[in-house]
Amino acid sequence: MSLSILITSAGRLTQHVISTLLSLSDCPPIRVIARSHADLGRSFPAQLRSAPHSVVIIENITDPNLANAFQGISIVLHSGPLLDPKEEASSVAIIDMAKNAGVKHFILCSVLQPVRTKLHIHKAKLNIEEYLTESRLRYTILQASDVAVNTGKIAIGFSPFVEHAFVDLNDLALTVLTIIRDPKSHSYACYELVAENISYHNIARLIAQEVRRDVQCEVLSTKDYLALMTGSYYVRNEHAEDAITRIMMYYDRWGLLGNPNVLRFLLGREPTSWTDYLRRELPTDS
Ligand SMILES: NC(=O)c1ccc[n+]([C@@H]2O[C@H](COP(=O)([O-])OP(=O)(O)OC[C@H]3O[C@@H](n4cnc5c(N)ncnc54)[C@H](OP(=O)(O)O)[C@@H]3O)[C@@H](O)[C@H]2O)c1
Repeated sequence: MSLSILITSAGRLTQHVISTLLSLSDCPPIRVIARSHADLGRSFPAQLRSAPHSVVIIENITDPNLANAFQGISIVLHSGPLLDPKEEASSVAIIDMAKNAGVKHFILCSVLQPVRTKLHIHKAKLNIEEYLTESRLRYTILQASDVAVNTGKIAIGFSPFVEHAFVDLNDLALTVLTIIRDPKSHSYACYELVAENISYHNIARLIAQEVRRDVQCEVLSTKDYLALMTGSYYVRNEHAEDAITRIMMYYDRWGLLGNPNVLRFLLGREPTSWTDYLRRELPTDS
């Protein structure tokens, strides 16, 4: 692939994309933006720190070196900071920088159904999507559902019986790869990435079946859930506290349902279900 790719952050979603790209024999040059507190040794494969790949340390959107990171780049994969009040402003600035640098294609990692504007994160994404669609850049929007993650414990702040849409990180990374391999054919597309709709109660039952022991959801009040999360990586300010509180209330009432048809089309196979994911990730003797 004669491309160069800029990945605007190195979080949960993009680290998976980075590993998938690096596993290719024809991996294009990748440039990743990270903050200075990132543990480069632990968070990034060594391969990423040697030519033709690179990690550029940028503290925030006002860093004068940020615009330089877009020079020579053909494709940008933008994954905005989660639960950050400045997500919209920083994403708009990043779209502008991509445009000014002559980037050929912009992939935006958005959320499933940003029209659910009662949720802070979704509202921000809706505005970012609008700005991107009017940017005159070629783009692909990936509306990802929640990623399936088994942390060994299910603590939630909403009803365990309400269904939510999930996607597997590998499927998401493979979708990004499909777009990178042929960006033009995915221009001006907006893809909903959903594997299945399932409640946490049923996820607990699936894990229990696989590990052959009882697994229960720990259902907390919104206040207790917030207390559990406060001070964690995800909840470091009042904006994040407020956003999480609203998510819990919203999920309790509405859940977040989606449809797997688009992901099935993109992958050319059935998307990875929770059962597939658990069978892949859980140790065989568990
Ligand atoms: N996780 C999901 O289930 C999911 C599903 C659908 C869509 N999304 C969307 O995908 C995006 C990434 O999600 P994720 O789960 O990968 O999040 P994540 O693991 O929290 O990663 C977020 C990245 O943004 C960086 N970041 C945070 N605050 C920043 C700031 N103020 N300035 C610069 N960089 C900052 C983080 O860097 P540090 O590590 O240095 O803090 C990290 O690299 C989000 O926009 C989210 O809405 C996520």
